[in-house]
Amino acid sequence: MSDLKGPRGAPDIRPPESATFQRIMRSAEDAFVRYGFKRIDTPAFEHTEVFTRTQEATGDMVTKEMYEFKDRSGRSLTLRPEGTAPVIRAVLEHNLHRAGLPVKLYYFSTSFRYERPQEGRQRAFHQLGVEAVGAPGPGIDAEVIELGTRVFQMIGLDAELFINSIGHPGCREEYLPKLTAFLESHFDELDEDCQRKTKTNPLRTFDCKVPRDRQILEGAPLITDFLCDDCREHFSGVQRFLADAEVEFRLDPRLVRGLDYYTRTTFAFLVPTLGAQNEVGGGGRYDGLSEMLGGPPLPGIGFGLGADRILRALGKQGKVLDEGIDTFVVSTSEEFRSPAISLARLIRDSGMSSDIDYSDKAVKAQFKTADRLGARFVIVVGQREMESKTYTVRNMSTGEEMPVAADELVDYLKGWL
Ligand code: HAM
Repeated sequence: MSDLKGPRGAPDIRPPESATFQRIMRSAEDAFVRYGFKRIDTPAFEHTEVFTRTQEATGDMVTKEMYEFKDRSGRSLTLRPEGTAPVIRAVLEHNLHRAGLPVKLYYFSTSFRYERPQEGRQRAFHQLGVEAVGAPGPGIDAEVIELGTRVFQMIGLDAELFINSIGHPGCREEYLPKLTAFLESHFDELDEDCQRKTKTNPLRTFDCKVPRDRQILEGAPLITDFLCDDCREHFSGVQRFLADAEVEFRLDPRLVRGLDYYTRTTFAFLVPTLGAQNEVGGGGRYDGLSEMLGGPPLPGIGFGLGADRILRALGKQGKVLDEGIDTFVVSTSEEFRSPAISLARLIRDSGMSSDIDYSDKAVKAQFKTADRLGARFVIVVGQREMESKTYTVRNMSTGEEMPVAADELVDYLKGWL
């Protein structure tokens, strides 16, 4: 065995669970495209500024979590810790917003955060994201949130949706001194992390997982009581549109989310059985982000879904996809290898999967391989089959064998698969 191991917190997604992972991506992509989003791929690293400009100096991601490095020319680059800022950078750089608004984009990306690895929290993880840029809402907020719920429906995962509004910076200007005063009045009772956040970024204390702190925070003033008329109206609009779309949601006035660029609507999808890292997706509005990156005002909203956590949640609910293959072609001897290969090709060209053995194994051993690969049908090619132009097809789940005329084989298989 090699002594080389993958880095900590950066697991490999390998068979058999990679089949379920792939299905998650396919379902998400299917939903994204149906809602009019177009794919974008940005590089895995960006100039560090793309991320530092979008976070207050105290944001955790900047101070603790970024994989920042100097390249050979001494430029400071950073592995993407999240997908939104790079997408907005790309929109602005290529003037995508000039061709009409909103710009609706989706992406699948690996993100990198130097976090303390634990169950559900990785240093390299996969996000499925969408961004609707240049849309003030609230209709688009509801559409993006509805799209998130559709993805979970299509994947077959029960996730609970929570929504909130954290207002625009003006609302927070009024609210934050009240929150800070409350936190300071309980300062000695809070754990060290919350004490630090009280001083640096009080809103983030609501992310605290320590039960005692959470209990204290129950009594904290709530941002929703400080929303200005415009933000309040926007939030009511989002809720009305969601109700029209029959999307079930719960209000959580303590939902602030971990990134500092959010304004107004924030939301999260939770799977309670996942334990501490139970957020399988989340997003929100980021009306000032474009300006932070040197662009014009371009209000936007989006989400990122955590594909690794979704995979884990499906595994826990026993909803994993068996990875099998549609067909396996067995040849009775070396002489029939060539027609067997042609048959596998024909099946593949018809849109079904097929595999074959090249190592001169006996028929029985080939059936064993078919079994190991999870083949749904095995097709035997030999003397008798070639002469009669009829294949013997075994349904591997029932054990039944059927003679099928060569020119009807593809239709026969398609009827089952
Ligand atoms: P985020 O909440 O930081 O938001 O990440 C989105 C999702 O990625 C989380 O809900 C979680 O499922 C998953 N995730 C985050 N960190 C980890 C980790 N260390 N290990 C495994 N999974 C993780 C964003 O990144 C925003 N860009 C989302 C967004 C898009 N907001 C607007 N547009």
